[in-house]
Amino acid sequence: MSTQNWNPELYLRYAVYRARPADDLLPRLALKVPGDIYDLGCGPGTLTKRIKDKWPDRRVTGIDASPDMLADARKKFGDADIAWTQGDIATWRAPTPAALVFANASLHWVADHVNLIPRLFSFVALGGVLAFQVPWSARALYGKCIAELIAAPRWRAKVGHIEPHEEPLDEGAYYDLLCDDALSIDIWHTNYAHVLEGEAPAADWVRSTGLVPFLSALPEEDHPAFVADYAAITNRVYPRQKDGRVLFTMMRLFVVAEKKI
Ligand SMILES: C[S@@+](CC[C@H](N)C(=O)[O-])C[C@H]1O[C@@H](n2cnc3c(N)ncnc32)[C@H](O)[C@@H]1O
Repeated sequence: MSTQNWNPELYLRYAVYRARPADDLLPRLALKVPGDIYDLGCGPGTLTKRIKDKWPDRRVTGIDASPDMLADARKKFGDADIAWTQGDIATWRAPTPAALVFANASLHWVADHVNLIPRLFSFVALGGVLAFQVPWSARALYGKCIAELIAAPRWRAKVGHIEPHEEPLDEGAYYDLLCDDALSIDIWHTNYAHVLEGEAPAADWVRSTGLVPFLSALPEEDHPAFVADYAAITNRVYPRQKDGRVLFTMMRLFVVAEKKI
């Protein structure tokens, strides 16, 4: 899953909306112990830069599987203040205990959260923080549209076997995975109703994220038809508001766990 074709330009098209969860998450983080910061699945680095700006004295490393995303991050933010490293979250290990292990909108691309989450928490220093945000996609409308698309006769043989990304666990499951080693756990979820416009607004958003595993598996010449079929489904399912815009609702779960001293 980690070597898929992520497109930084497309991903950043809705940058303001994509920043909203981080706007809600970052102010809730306080670092009380020494140590480095790791941004897992840093993508184009926008958030990694905000993290560095918030904690300028900390060493910050952005880790991503996608060379294109890392190249984009390097181009924009340089190598001087932030280290950019290619790596797979599934096998990544912190070299020293971390003050903060952070992952915004990336852990749902990694399987087996029952083992992954305690593993990531084990890299956090005593008194340090694990913070992540994941979308619940399978239960959202756009996720149901993906399921309909890949079950369609035209696509089933080609991509029907590909799993969409990992559906994150429920909040109680994350709590139970973390509570033995946590001093505090803050968990919440928020539905963001993003106001989108255009011919196929939901498809425009999802093709740079949720459709990536399928597009990566399809030959280039199939991409336009695949995206067009997804656009047709989402245009049928998402109602237009009075002014023609679409409310594209993302359900996002936030977890901030502070490790016991
Ligand atoms: C939706 S983007 C989020 C980017 C950034 N965290 C943000 O909030 O803007 C997801 C990122 O996770 C990366 N990713 C997906 N699976 C990964 C894995 N197994 N290891 C490392 N990075 C991964 C992708 O390359 C992509 O850049």
